[in-house]
Amino acid sequence: MTEPHPVSLAPAARSADPARLSIRGRRPRDLPALRRWLTDPAAEWRQWDAPYYHAKATTEMLERYVDTLAASPPDPHQRVLDLDGSCIGMVNRAEEDPRGGGWWDLGILIYDPALWGEGLGSRALHLWVQATLDETDAHVLTFTTWGGNERMIRAARRLGFREAGRVREARVVRGARHDSVRLDLLRREWVGGP
Ligand SMILES: CC(C)(COP(=O)(O)OP(=O)(O)OC[C@H]1O[C@@H](n2cnc3c(N)ncnc32)[C@H](O)[C@@H]1OP(=O)(O)O)[C@@H](O)C(=O)NCCC(=O)NCCS
Repeated sequence: MTEPHPVSLAPAARSADPARLSIRGRRPRDLPALRRWLTDPAAEWRQWDAPYYHAKATTEMLERYVDTLAASPPDPHQRVLDLDGSCIGMVNRAEEDPRGGGWWDLGILIYDPALWGEGLGSRALHLWVQATLDETDAHVLTFTTWGGNERMIRAARRLGFREAGRVREARVVRGARHDSVRLDLLRREWVGGP
């Protein structure tokens, strides 16, 4: 059966104090919110997070992904963003090959656009960078995005990430060409953020 639309975000949306945001492992009760947000092809976040991929393939991939979530234990490389007990998004990380090489690429997603621009993303990234440096042997961290995703780029810069590479006009988003942008941070540059 389709999840009711929308799952209530009222507790989270009432106030978006970044100090109340935490990251934690996924719990079974997070699954309805995860399923609804991740598999909704019309969700606003899809316009910002890798919108250059084909929408149909993304939807199919996310449906398979949510099914595997329901059947598998929490992955230490993925966490839920928790605001007052509600799952409002997720962070993840993947080690670039070869394993043990010390390069980890990070990702972040806050599902509800009503919660964007309130400092939650910056806070979540701070927590995720710190956790990744604590839990892995990362030497360098990266984010990979596109030039139009100003919130992502500014949030990363605020934490001390700097532009590491820009492939000009590599991504097509809604008919317009944008740069592919990668930002990096070395472990020794991390000063702890806000
Ligand atoms: C990217 C994302 C995590 C950022 O989180 P957020 O809570 O919206 O970001 P913050 O409120 O912490 O703001 C981050 C920066 O963006 C700026 N910002 C906020 N709203 C903005 C807007 N509409 N346009 C441009 N910049 C904006 C903030 O001023 C801040 O910059 P500053 O520190 O230089 O002032 C969130 O917007 C999101 O999940 N977007 C959809 C998914 C996505 O794009 N993920 C990244 C894929 S690579």
